[in-house]
Amino acid sequence: MTSISVFGIGYVGVVSAACLARDGHRVVAVDIEAARVRTINEGRAPIVENGLPALIERAVADGLLVATLDAEDAVAKTEASLVCVGTPSNPDGSVGLDHVRQVCGIIGRAISRKGSYHSVIIRSTIVPGTMEGTCIPALEEASGLKAGVDFGVGYYPEFLRESTAIEDYDNPGLVVFGALDAPTFALLNALNKDVPCAVHEVDLRTAEMVKYTSNTWRAVKVTFANEIGNIAKACGLDGQLVMRLLCSDDKVAMSPNFMRPGFAFGGSCLPKDVRALQQLARSRDVEAPLLGAVLKANDAQIDRAARMVADTGPQGGTGRHVVGLVGISFKPGTDDLRESPLAELASRLIAGGHDVQVYDPNVATGHANDPEGVGRGNDAVPDLRDRMVPSIDALIEVADTIVVGNSYAEALGPLRDVLHDQPVVDLTRVQPGLVSSGTYQGICW
Ligand SMILES: NC(=O)c1ccc[n+]([C@@H]2O[C@H](COP(=O)([O-])OP(=O)(O)OC[C@H]3O[C@@H](n4cnc5c(N)ncnc54)[C@H](O)[C@@H]3O)[C@@H](O)[C@H]2O)c1
Repeated sequence: MTSISVFGIGYVGVVSAACLARDGHRVVAVDIEAARVRTINEGRAPIVENGLPALIERAVADGLLVATLDAEDAVAKTEASLVCVGTPSNPDGSVGLDHVRQVCGIIGRAISRKGSYHSVIIRSTIVPGTMEGTCIPALEEASGLKAGVDFGVGYYPEFLRESTAIEDYDNPGLVVFGALDAPTFALLNALNKDVPCAVHEVDLRTAEMVKYTSNTWRAVKVTFANEIGNIAKACGLDGQLVMRLLCSDDKVAMSPNFMRPGFAFGGSCLPKDVRALQQLARSRDVEAPLLGAVLKANDAQIDRAARMVADTGPQGGTGRHVVGLVGISFKPGTDDLRESPLAELASRLIAGGHDVQVYDPNVATGHANDPEGVGRGNDAVPDLRDRMVPSIDALIEVADTIVVGNSYAEALGPLRDVLHDQPVVDLTRVQPGLVSSGTYQGICW
């Protein structure tokens, strides 16, 4: 069992402190509010949370949980500190780091006087780069010691929901953390050894980003459901029933397949159906700003790709620039060009003076089978037939810049061979884990 100090006896800190003590750890809870410290030491819960009063009463009675205002003593008596102080919004919306910065200073000074290894694990919600840019420098400056060497550092975001916080502590949907040093990783793994879900070790920044992504995703889901509910009501329908049915579909509606950063959506259904639902909302005087943002955001992703490609060509619009586009249909496995974002990208590049050549085995087959190609969006790109090249090798040969839009099995080998030899803009990630470097640029990685 470990001895742990918890800084900040708010919603997150008090639940962590009580659950850690319940699980047999020795916990010292630290706050600057004397009333909260007193409440804990009297065996009472300072917040309303299901199941919490009993846990605190028991933990205090067993001597496993004490609260104090004395931060230095808390650090001296424990092996690690969990920092759970608030990070409220600054007036401009940025994350407020005053409490985190202050606690890091206090813990840093206490570590310098402690004389034995101590891990500092931040649980407060902080934007990517805060550990490296704020917390670690504050700890190092205050302690005069080197993070990851003389003391441990970790970031371990909390995902609990108020009202089901203890249940979420015991049965989380996600555990993810990063650390600079092996002892802190070992401690975090030990604390999570019984959780019934996968435990993910990542770098500090990824852990920071996962927390914001999780909360923002929840916010987007609520807003989306509300907009659907508002439109449904205006149509005399039950939006809660509609959303319940939607959520029962794990294969398409709730599938992770549509949650992979990359290029824009398109095809014969999604854009037209988003437009129609927006129009339906407008016709019933229902505001749907989230729906309104969807097509704009999708268009911005096409623009982003077009800018990335243009940046690889001759600057100032002079000189010929051949862009070799791998895939032009709206996704691999089809020859359908209707509202293909790759076709739109090609059109924008052509309009911008680039010479676009295309390799797409399915569109080539579609052209061969149906020379008219009526109704599949063949008019989306000027002179598309003349721009088609017969093989991936031929495309690589003629292209100054390769743009990977769709992934085809036979193209992967040749593309990987040239990834770092000639400009490549990758919209799909031809190889897991690739990141932008040199002549290789991934759209979101
Ligand atoms: N509330 C939630 O449901 C929830 C869930 C997950 C993550 N988070 C994140 O966890 C963090 C804490 O949230 P919260 O809701 O528990 O905050 P809170 O405001 O309820 O509690 C913060 C506590 O920190 C104390 N504090 C401030 N400075 C201190 C210092 N120098 N030393 C010791 N204690 C100090 C405050 O007095 C307060 O008791 C935030 O970053 C929040 O975004 C919150």
